[in-house]
Amino acid sequence: MCGIVGYVGSKEATPVLINGLKKLEYRGYDSAGIAVLSESADEILVRKSKGALKFLEAKIADEVIKGSVGIGHTRWATHGEPSDLNSHPHTNVSGTIAVVHNGIIENYAKLKAWLQDQGIVFRSQTDTEVIAHLINYFYEKSGELFKAVLETLHKLEGSYALGVVCTKYPDRLIAARKESPLIVGLGKDENFIASDVPAVLEYTRDVYYLDQKEIAVLYSDHVDLFNEDGEKIHKEPSHVEWDLSSAEKDGYAHFMLKEIHEQPKVLDATIKAHVVYDEKKNPVDLTFSKEIESDRINEMIQNAKRIVITACGTSYHAGMVGKYAFEKFARIPTVVDVASEFRYRNPILNKDDVFIVISQSGETADTLAAMRLAKENGAKVIAITNVVGSTVSREADFVIYTLAGPEIAVASTKAYTTQLACLYMISMMFGYKNGKLPEAEYKKLLNELIKIPELSQKILENQEDVQKFASRQFNKSKIFYIGRQFDSASSLESALKLKEVSYMHCEAFAAGELKHGPIALIDNDTLVVAIATCPELYEKLVSNIVEVKSRGATTMCITQNKAEMSKACDEILEIPETDSTLESILSIIPAQLFAYYCSVQKGIDPDKPRNLAKSVTVE
Ligand code: G6P
Repeated sequence: MCGIVGYVGSKEATPVLINGLKKLEYRGYDSAGIAVLSESADEILVRKSKGALKFLEAKIADEVIKGSVGIGHTRWATHGEPSDLNSHPHTNVSGTIAVVHNGIIENYAKLKAWLQDQGIVFRSQTDTEVIAHLINYFYEKSGELFKAVLETLHKLEGSYALGVVCTKYPDRLIAARKESPLIVGLGKDENFIASDVPAVLEYTRDVYYLDQKEIAVLYSDHVDLFNEDGEKIHKEPSHVEWDLSSAEKDGYAHFMLKEIHEQPKVLDATIKAHVVYDEKKNPVDLTFSKEIESDRINEMIQNAKRIVITACGTSYHAGMVGKYAFEKFARIPTVVDVASEFRYRNPILNKDDVFIVISQSGETADTLAAMRLAKENGAKVIAITNVVGSTVSREADFVIYTLAGPEIAVASTKAYTTQLACLYMISMMFGYKNGKLPEAEYKKLLNELIKIPELSQKILENQEDVQKFASRQFNKSKIFYIGRQFDSASSLESALKLKEVSYMHCEAFAAGELKHGPIALIDNDTLVVAIATCPELYEKLVSNIVEVKSRGATTMCITQNKAEMSKACDEILEIPETDSTLESILSIIPAQLFAYYCSVQKGIDPDKPRNLAKSVTVE
């Protein structure tokens, strides 16, 4: 989704803005632009270009844009095609006010018609342009920029993160947010705004995470914060613990590959954060006491009649694995819902439901809406998220962090496996505490769980096998992932990874469903990948593989039991053995690598797949 940066200080703003936008490229965009207040403050220099940032850089390569206050934007088109004209920043008619915006102004058509009635001629097809004209309209009435911005915000329906500069106020930059994320970076004699922390991390680790409807006015030497009524507020800045190297490629060709390789480390951190050891260093229990007071969690577990999980995309697939885990370990009925569906179907919620939302970014619009709806209905929400300070983390009742570090590649990998680790841990703890998971079994599972990071490393050591396999299969016209139980959830995520980064046509099916339709698609140009980690279902899966093989498909299997599955499959990608219920954390890794290498074989940039955004902050 769109990326915003802004700068007020004594440096030249342009390089800071371009640099910041580069750090936000991962969010996905189709055009970029900057607006810098000229040194004499008599004009705003706006430069924008369709396409990658390099086109904007090329456009400004031969000119010196002098000025130390500015805003920048990468746009992910919603209203109006990607074009130079529709790119942000947008200005008022006289060019004295410039605006960058992330989000959607839902009532823009009405506002636009009204402004047109006032004689305003619009230049773009965007919803954002109304903001620039509205600020101008109110400014002309009051002569005060802050007041004009405030009045404009009161007129806007929908979501926004905004940066505003004005020639009449050359010492400041105004920012505001509702729904869409925005942070303020606090430097020494310079301050910043950005959609995400990596854009400012080179300059500062101290940030304000703006809350709903907060407004910030940034000067080079201080920042004032206000609520939606324009009253001054005070809040403590947060200190960012991770450093920039976590958001850089560290010698890997792509962020996606780097993040796949980080999984052993981040799984270890996420799991160890909750494991309790005895004096002989044996894992004996799990604790979430930092996140949820023990009385509260005990009460929740004893009363839980149902688990309701909602999320989108990859996080939704983690929820699917979570369903199997909760039902297996804790014997609690579990429903998983795509957040965009949940919010529109008048869901039935009961007071004894435990509501879990999963969101890597903590900013996904549909997930936030589902969480708010659950809260309105009296549910207590446990959030699993990766981003400290995100909206989900601030609004949920309890927050469990995946310690995956910043995930930059659009396709989620390390966030997914750490989400699985959290879901396994919570469901195991629920099962142990509600008496459905016997102590011996619980401890055995804990023992296996802490070895998972090491086992995941072993898969990565054999990544060449996956690379070779990808080089033979990347031109298949159809790819199907199949699996049963936990493996059917992993199949969905495996297929999504491949679609996202290789654009190959790939679907996932619960293996038993093959003969109810999908088998009609099988021919010589089809690859079927079976995920087989449930020993009690090997035989059934072998039958499915034989069925597709006899109809011409090439077959591959991701399994811990090479001996059993090589009876039927053309190729095997072996994963290490652990408790079969935990294998989902491991079985996805070859599928992530397969997607990555297919993408590279096809000459696609896996970090920035077409049409996709890292964080979907609009509906
Ligand atoms: C986008 C991303 C996906 C992600 C989904 C949910 O579609 O491209 O990778 O899984 O949003 O994001 P969340 O941040 O809520 O997990």
